[in-house]
Amino acid sequence: MKVHISLLFVVCTYLILMIHTTPLDRTQIHDDWRKHSLSEDGIKVLHRAKRGWMWNQFFLLEEYTGSDTQYVGKLYTDHDKGDGNLKYILSGDGAGSVFVIDENTGDIQAVKRLDREEKSIYTLRAKAIDRKTGRQVEPESEFIIKIHDINDNEPKFTQDIYTATVPEMSEVGSSVIQVTAIDADDPSYGNSAKIVYSIIQGQPYFSVDADTGIIKTALPDMSRENREHYQVVIQAKDMGGQMGGLSGTTTVNITLTDVNDNPPRFPQSIYQFMSLESAAVGTAIGRIKANDDDVGKNAEIKYTVIDRDAKDYFEIITDKKTQDGIITVKKLLDFESHGMHTFEVEAANTFEDPRFSHLRSFKDTAIVKITLHDVDEAPIFNRPFYVFEVNEDVKEGSIIGHVSAQDPDSTKSSVKYSIDRNTDLERIFNIHTGNGSLILAKPLDRESTPWQNITIVATETKNPRLSRNVQAYIKILDINDHAPEFAQHYDTFVCENAKPGQPH
Ligand SMILES: *[C@@H]1O[C@H](CO)[C@@H](O)[C@H](O)[C@H]1NC(C)=O
Ligand SMILES: *[C@@H]1O[C@H](CO)[C@@H](O)[C@H](O)[C@H]1NC(C)=O
Repeated sequence: MKVHISLLFVVCTYLILMIHTTPLDRTQIHDDWRKHSLSEDGIKVLHRAKRGWMWNQFFLLEEYTGSDTQYVGKLYTDHDKGDGNLKYILSGDGAGSVFVIDENTGDIQAVKRLDREEKSIYTLRAKAIDRKTGRQVEPESEFIIKIHDINDNEPKFTQDIYTATVPEMSEVGSSVIQVTAIDADDPSYGNSAKIVYSIIQGQPYFSVDADTGIIKTALPDMSRENREHYQVVIQAKDMGGQMGGLSGTTTVNITLTDVNDNPPRFPQSIYQFMSLESAAVGTAIGRIKANDDDVGKNAEIKYTVIDRDAKDYFEIITDKKTQDGIITVKKLLDFESHGMHTFEVEAANTFEDPRFSHLRSFKDTAIVKITLHDVDEAPIFNRPFYVFEVNEDVKEGSIIGHVSAQDPDSTKSSVKYSIDRNTDLERIFNIHTGNGSLILAKPLDRESTPWQNITIVATETKNPRLSRNVQAYIKILDINDHAPEFAQHYDTFVCENAKPGQPH
């Protein structure tokens, strides 16, 4: 006959259901088994024996907290006459340490608390030996002890804290992030690992999908400018979320990111500045700033001078750090002709969001008034430089040309002329202090110097600090080279047009 390993102890009702039999007690199984084995022939017995192995699994609850040991089941063979002549021996996973067998009765006990999540199946072998002969009365047979799950693990989120962002003004139901909890219990058995997600902080702004853990926006028109940060707490509960299930939570820090839903707006309608008329090109006259509640590129502003006239004189450069508009001189200003500039400026966002640009204008305008202050300016020559041609045989004391400079200020101060002597060390030239006529003081020698280049200075008579220089290039002509048309050309260019006191 065979070793029969029978389920003798009903651990609990659902365990019996698991092994596809109706509840039977120990005696019933034995009786039923004996009847069959005795009345059938050898083959049938073998077949029956195979069917018998349906029970070659023992089931045991993990985390058993009852008495010291937990009864697992009983090994049994027909050779056992109950006279103590047989000895049952157990080997394999945990034999002797986790599972002990009563070698006389075949009763197996678990002597340690078991954790399914650590090890869920133990494979053991059993044999029965005749104590007198030492012979094995049954061939060694393998069976397993399966540890049944209880809900001893709570769902654990993959992260303690999640961080996520979602654009402000997103449509309701926009996905933000998916959170995931894992339950170490047996997912194939019962609901111990069946997780349901719920939101316990963060409503009504956000919701969570109970099955997937996907967090979504739940309110329309959530504005970053209103509130930027949200702390959402999500709970994962096993047992399908039912009462008595174990749960874990996680925190999700959600930040709304900016979209361009706010236009730039000037806080004042008029800006007033003052500038010296002498301000150089590129000089900053003042700053204006339109406010924009958005951030980053959504708050970037471009300023424009709108009036055509003012456009020539001023431009507005954006300070990339502050988004201020710096009003800058583009062309030289003049108090005498244009003492005050009044013009309209525009502030516009560099990047517009088409979702909002139809709702409101992303531009604003303001008026800028710039008052100029008169500056006592140095005299100005009527030409940027002068070229004179002179025959090499011209007599000393002859006038070889004229220069002219005027005070640009309304006071029209008188001007006196001089030669920078560093540029005329040999004192070849003189200049008439009052009218700018250039006079030859020494004979010329073309062979040694074909050009004489000098600097002439015009100074305001009343204010010697205000002076300006000009270059005069004097070409000495060989008498033989003298061509009438040249002389005429330069006469026209310099002498006739450049009358003193006659601005160019
Ligand atoms: C300047 O004055 C001198 C001397 O009085 C005269 O010879 C010359 O022609 C004057 N020049 C002009 C441009 O009037
Ligand atoms: C004077 O200027 C002329 C024209 O620019 C130039 O050709 C010449 O070399 C200069 N001469 C001196 C001595 O600087």
